[in-house]
Amino acid sequence: MAEMDLADLPVDNPLRVDNPALIPAARYYDEEFYRLECERLWPRAWQMACRLEQIPDVGDWIEYSNVGKSVIVVRTKDGVKAHQNHCRHRGVPIAGGQGNAEGASAHGNCAKSGFICPFHGWRWNMDGECTFVYGRHLFDEEVLEKDELALKPVRVETWGGCAFINHDPDAPSLRESLGPVLDRLEARGMSKLRSEWWFATVLPANWKVAMEAFMEGYHVMKTHPQLQHAQPSLYNARYGNETGGLGPLVNPNLGVRENIQEALTSMDLLGEGMAGLVHAKEIAIAKELADVELPEDPQLAMMTWYGIVCQAITDKLRARGEDVPDLPRVMQEHPVEAVEFLFPHYFLLTYFTSMSSYRIRPLGPESCLFELWSLTHYPEGEEPEPPREPVMLPFDSQDFPMIPRQDYSNIPIQQKGMHSEGFDHLRLSKDREGLISNYQRLIDGYIGGASPQRLAAANRMLGGNFDGPILDLQLE
Ligand code: FES
Ligand SMILES: [Fe+2]
Repeated sequence: MAEMDLADLPVDNPLRVDNPALIPAARYYDEEFYRLECERLWPRAWQMACRLEQIPDVGDWIEYSNVGKSVIVVRTKDGVKAHQNHCRHRGVPIAGGQGNAEGASAHGNCAKSGFICPFHGWRWNMDGECTFVYGRHLFDEEVLEKDELALKPVRVETWGGCAFINHDPDAPSLRESLGPVLDRLEARGMSKLRSEWWFATVLPANWKVAMEAFMEGYHVMKTHPQLQHAQPSLYNARYGNETGGLGPLVNPNLGVRENIQEALTSMDLLGEGMAGLVHAKEIAIAKELADVELPEDPQLAMMTWYGIVCQAITDKLRARGEDVPDLPRVMQEHPVEAVEFLFPHYFLLTYFTSMSSYRIRPLGPESCLFELWSLTHYPEGEEPEPPREPVMLPFDSQDFPMIPRQDYSNIPIQQKGMHSEGFDHLRLSKDREGLISNYQRLIDGYIGGASPQRLAAANRMLGGNFDGPILDLQLE
């Protein structure tokens, strides 16, 4: 039976989330649950397969592989196409073929030679048509029917400077699946960003443990204490102090200049700690405005100051030739959360005009491939040569920026803790860790065979849900 049909059958999911605030720990290591995800979630979800700058020229291709399914994404004369990566003769991958083991990211250009199978040398062009069968006369013509020899197409959509693939012919479109978050990110100049760098690492943890480390800011106080120390009022306003009450967003005990200094120190730490999240060039512009004239009232002064900074970043980067968005306008008209997730495995962090982006693929129930890009704008003609593959580092490498390094220090030990005797469930904050629950229950929706329309409707609710509440996803 074809895999697509399997996903429609009823299935026993003993690890289903029944209480939205309690997530069964075994979902992060159970082999059977992992198998259900591989069979019923991944083949039906839109997956970020590559950045378009990885395939700038006609004929450029990359291999995107996840949970045993390998796809070739190729730029053709008629746009980006995707093909299943197997030879129509005896199944050998026709390009790459190492899968995603240890971050393998095969790429090349097929404009001259096409794709040539390494086993017996059959060939295809970039459109997937078979162009050569060695010793054709040795075969019965009926097994060499033209359409059957063509590479199997995979659905592909481009958005935000990336190609997304989906193995499910019946899945709603990328836009219907993810909703308005795509417009909000696009308004922030998403498709004009270029990679500054691209790192990858293998983490000894379930892919969801790694994803969920970024779904709330509630861990900042303990995991990234330097951020809270730099600007305590920001975090007290959102999470309260250790014993309770929420504080004001701007510290009324500090003067306006001291509040600005706190904000600048905080930006410095975010910039050094996470690169693209706040770019050094943006911080430099903000620093030039530390003494600008402002109203007396600290709250009003800080709002005014952020407005002036956003306008100056827009104007100065545009004057350098960068096609950045009009920040004061898009922040008003298309506000984005500090982190925006594109279910299932891609997310973006932004502050001004640059972004960090992350993609996490399972390598097994307790291992995942974690990729991290720093993205920013460049003046036309000054874009750097795009990286074609990530720089692989061990997860505890000091070469990672400080903030992911701090996150990576928790992820592998949390994975171990999941197995601890008596640890049956994770218990979530209904107000701040809702996205974790919402993600997990959307996965249950895929496993349980909910209709594509319901899955898409639930998925659309996840835009803007970072740090947010547990939602009724209407999947029952
Ligand atoms: S398996 Fe590809 S040509 Fe034989
Ligand atoms: Fe973190």
